[in-house]
Amino acid sequence: MPPMIPYEDLKGVNAPFEVALRASFGQTLGSGWYILGGQVQAFEGAFAAFCGARYCVGVASGLDALTLGLRALELPSGGEVIIPSNSYVASIVAVIQAGLIPVMVEPDSRTYNMTAASLAQGITSRTVAIMPVHLYGKPCPMIEIMKIASQAGLKVIEDCAQAHGAHIEGQRVGTFGHIGAYSFYPTKNLGALGDAGAIILNDAALFDKLKALRNYGSEKKYHNLYVGYNSRLDEIQAGFLNVKLPFLDKITAHKRAIAARYDAGLDLRVVKPQISEGDVFHIYPIMVERRDDLRAYLLDNGVGTEVHYPVPPQKQVAFLSLFSGQEYPVAAYLASHELSLPISYAHSFDQIDRVIALVNKFLGV
Ligand SMILES: Cc1ncc(COP(=O)(O)O)c(C=O)c1O
Repeated sequence: MPPMIPYEDLKGVNAPFEVALRASFGQTLGSGWYILGGQVQAFEGAFAAFCGARYCVGVASGLDALTLGLRALELPSGGEVIIPSNSYVASIVAVIQAGLIPVMVEPDSRTYNMTAASLAQGITSRTVAIMPVHLYGKPCPMIEIMKIASQAGLKVIEDCAQAHGAHIEGQRVGTFGHIGAYSFYPTKNLGALGDAGAIILNDAALFDKLKALRNYGSEKKYHNLYVGYNSRLDEIQAGFLNVKLPFLDKITAHKRAIAARYDAGLDLRVVKPQISEGDVFHIYPIMVERRDDLRAYLLDNGVGTEVHYPVPPQKQVAFLSLFSGQEYPVAAYLASHELSLPISYAHSFDQIDRVIALVNKFLGV
């Protein structure tokens, strides 16, 4: 049997950057400055410029980017935040940790994202904010969502954890709403070698507040304005991100090329993701009957896959009381049919062709 095609090979993804990553570590080690130093400052400037935002605040994780972002918006405690019913749990945890109430609306069954119409159905007199999640690397329809938000006077925090560089007609995600939150978890399109996150925004007062919130609520050493967090982007991780950011467009181009190959080669018996120009394919999700059988067949034939996500939020033990008595059939369908095929910077086109041939063989093509 040919060598295994892993779903994810992070060592392989980072191999092209190994020399520069080691040099960056050496530079930070030698600098003797390990918290909020030159690497963090350089990354914040470069990432803001990459996104087309005025400001960037580096934080410890994507979850913290969402939580601090919500905290900084000063939303009334107990207010409702609208999120999609198929998101990763971090979106919901952030809302709860910020003292707010998550209200889920169904995603579109073909784009897997919140739409203006589904969002409108979730708005009540208690709604204070909307959290569109650009799931799998596909932008939500932000122009329509922002129209509704501004008519209803709602804040918008974009969860961009899976959508680095994704755009709508050239405008990057995270710059449509009031705040954009990013994760640099190692598997992300721009991944650190540990946990890391960032917030992008255009408002100067919010920027000052977020810089304080991530650092114990302190704007000036030993003077605390807020009950803050210790959620500073790590200096070593910022150095690694500085090495990889200039290659993000190349990483995205490779993932788009793999997606195009799947799109052309996979049989129509699987539901393939719709492709738009601004998608960045953090994941290549197909929807397929007998998903678990296909997954086992691929594994038997040396191909690793993933499921994003097998347990939808309404079924998570942690949230049972929050969403009890409510139905989310689209999210339930996605959880039982979604299969993520290999798509990373480390995968070759030959490997992808092998995956395509195996999926089609399973389907009887
Ligand atoms: C949609 C979404 N939101 C938020 C997060 C949280 O990011 P982190 O793991 O860096 O806290 C993730 C990723 O893990 C995610 O996929």
